[in-house]
Amino acid sequence: MTIIKVQKGTKDILPADMPLWHFMEEKANEIFTKYGAKEIRTPIFEATELFARGVGDTTDIVNKEMYTFEKSERSLTLRPENTAGVVRSFIENGMHRLSAPVKLWYKGPMFRYERPQAGRQRQFHQVGVEVFGIQQATADAEVILMAVNYLKALGLNDLSVEINSLGCPECREVFKTKLKEVIKPYLNELCPDCQSRYEKNPLRLLDCKVPECKEIYAKPEIQTVIQSDFICEDCANHFNELQTYLNELGIKYSINKLLVRGLDYYNRTVFEITSNNLGSQNAVCGGGRYDSLVKNLGGEDTPAIGFAMGMERLAALIENKEDKKTKAFVVSNNMTEALKLTESLRQNGITAEFDLTNKKFVKQLEKASKVAEYALILGEDEISQNKITVKNLATSEQKTIDCKEVISLLN
Ligand code: HAM
Repeated sequence: MTIIKVQKGTKDILPADMPLWHFMEEKANEIFTKYGAKEIRTPIFEATELFARGVGDTTDIVNKEMYTFEKSERSLTLRPENTAGVVRSFIENGMHRLSAPVKLWYKGPMFRYERPQAGRQRQFHQVGVEVFGIQQATADAEVILMAVNYLKALGLNDLSVEINSLGCPECREVFKTKLKEVIKPYLNELCPDCQSRYEKNPLRLLDCKVPECKEIYAKPEIQTVIQSDFICEDCANHFNELQTYLNELGIKYSINKLLVRGLDYYNRTVFEITSNNLGSQNAVCGGGRYDSLVKNLGGEDTPAIGFAMGMERLAALIENKEDKKTKAFVVSNNMTEALKLTESLRQNGITAEFDLTNKKFVKQLEKASKVAEYALILGEDEISQNKITVKNLATSEQKTIDCKEVISLLN
């Protein structure tokens, strides 16, 4: 019979990987809670329209990468990202009535029908933060700080922070027109994707990876437009304020004018954090401000900013965490006593196991030394005297103690 295998672009997270995943999740809870963020869990599928309107129907994510299906004549989509879902929940649950800022964090699986490669999966996991209700650049600085400090808490240091400002819809329109003007003479030489982006979403031309397109965009007359300070005075002040805060906080960053991000909802600040130790898929974190999204999805006008990180990419950078050994392994050929002792250890907060198959004594000891820190030996003598022999499996020291002492000894 053929064996059914895991789907392309998806992976099992196996028990051996779990200490590392728990570490990432616990650190997220610890660090984001310090900043006042509360966890939110939204559904894995949403109305397709949420992503079309939220992420934007000119993006690759919406056009090519969504897992969409019909049920009861409704079009549903497995979430490709979580900002749109969190915004939907923010609106639906009237969270604009809470006192600002409303800070939310999440973790969970996302789905994108992309070509799988190292660091890129079809089901992957993100941990992210969304902060609602603050227009000022203090929120931008705090959100970047949350991302950087979370990465530090994971022990990741060899990272680069890049920031850019996409301006507001008004100043960006002027920039788009100028950009299209200088690129127009080369339109026929661009890749098919760029040819369609030229009309629909010219900003996205800037992060095309096709070498021929990159060569064209490197031409001096095009670079002059890309590198120009196109943003209006208000947007420039906001961006300068953010930089002042980052400088004061000692956060190293660089400005990358080509950083435009692959989702349509951004305005003003966008940022990415990349690792020097990953291959081509080296972005561990992406985020930015999305001041119009809440309103565009039918909510009260509420500014917002956030980020998300790919957990598989983080996992690839963190040293594997050792699985913790069981504290105690009860070695006995009296199954009733073994069962009772093991259970009473667990009730007192001690991880404990025993040999469910009642193997020979030596075999049980061998097993104990593989999986546990202590062997608790319950032979005929011990049972008759109400005692336990405790063997430290790392040092081989052993002593026989009264049953009632065992919990305090192991705790
Ligand atoms: P994004 O840049 O599309 O942004 O994704 C954020 C991060 O998710 C990426 O930097 C990467 O680490 C990880 N990631 C994305 N796609 C994949 C994949 N196919 N396989 C593995 N990892 C992947 C967002 O999703 C926005 N919602 C971020 C945001 C939140 N902006 C504002 N708030």
